[in-house]
Amino acid sequence: MRVGFIGAGKMAKAMIRGLISHGIAPGEILVCTSNPVSCAAVSSEYGVRGCESPAEVAKEANILVLAVKPVHVRDVLSHPDIRMNSRHLLISVAAGIRISTLRTYVPDARIVRVMPNLCSAVMSGVSCYTMGDGTDSDDEKTVRMMLESMGRAFRIEEKDMDAVSGLSGSSPAFVFMVIDALADGGVRMGLSEEFALELAALTVEGAARTVMGTGEDPDILKENVCSPGGTTIEGVKVLEEGGLRKLISDAVVASARKSERMSKG
Ligand SMILES: NC(=O)c1ccc[n+]([C@@H]2O[C@H](COP(=O)([O-])OP(=O)(O)OC[C@H]3O[C@@H](n4cnc5c(N)ncnc54)[C@H](OP(=O)(O)O)[C@@H]3O)[C@@H](O)[C@H]2O)c1
Repeated sequence: MRVGFIGAGKMAKAMIRGLISHGIAPGEILVCTSNPVSCAAVSSEYGVRGCESPAEVAKEANILVLAVKPVHVRDVLSHPDIRMNSRHLLISVAAGIRISTLRTYVPDARIVRVMPNLCSAVMSGVSCYTMGDGTDSDDEKTVRMMLESMGRAFRIEEKDMDAVSGLSGSSPAFVFMVIDALADGGVRMGLSEEFALELAALTVEGAARTVMGTGEDPDILKENVCSPGGTTIEGVKVLEEGGLRKLISDAVVASARKSERMSKG
């Protein structure tokens, strides 16, 4: 299987790591970026093959991952040198770009739209995907194999893409902020930065595993940590008064709305 990446930044690198760790030979992975220097850097870091242009990647690979920023999608796909036809499976990870929009640039390619997340870099990604018209079950097997090499994959309807973009696509950033803030609290109480960060990250990981492992409502789990008149309820009161729940759900909605606006052009 030969996979070509058009754009090799943070998201593409996370996917490349996943594919290599899943046994895809680095030599079967092609990349191009906006300039030869960054392309050479990715090529030497992962042992993948650097190409000069998106057109070269499309010539050499049947499976293409479109991993440029949304604002660059049109320039890349409508470039006169690029040739994409029905032998190409185009997997776009560009936030807020609909399959119907991609199809206007490359009408003959089989198109899949994916919303991955950055946790793919450590095989803990969550990806949601929509299969475009003209794709078949072999295409879906290929896509699932790629996405499951870096975490969990869920097939969704395209109408839900903005919502998952706000939730699983963007929220690693929100959780990183939470981990950082938890660690700050520990440092304020005298722990070393390194130890505080380790405790904060492990605690968030453990809390997520507890939700998944018990199937219990997070609100009940929260109550299980709070003894009447105890220490935790004091902290919970601070978070409730500060509006933490609304703030975080508003952040998901704001990210999803931005994705909606981008979809409309
Ligand atoms: N980061 C995330 O957490 C995340 C999550 C979900 C979805 N996504 C989606 O993933 C896509 C990529 O995001 P990112 O965070 O990986 O961005 P990024 O780190 O900025 O990477 C973008 C890549 O595109 C390359 N590029 C720009 N113009 C190009 C051109 N004309 N031809 C070829 N390559 C070109 C850049 O080249 P240089 O290296 O030379 O600049 C860079 O390698 C976006 O569409 C985003 O919506 C990202």
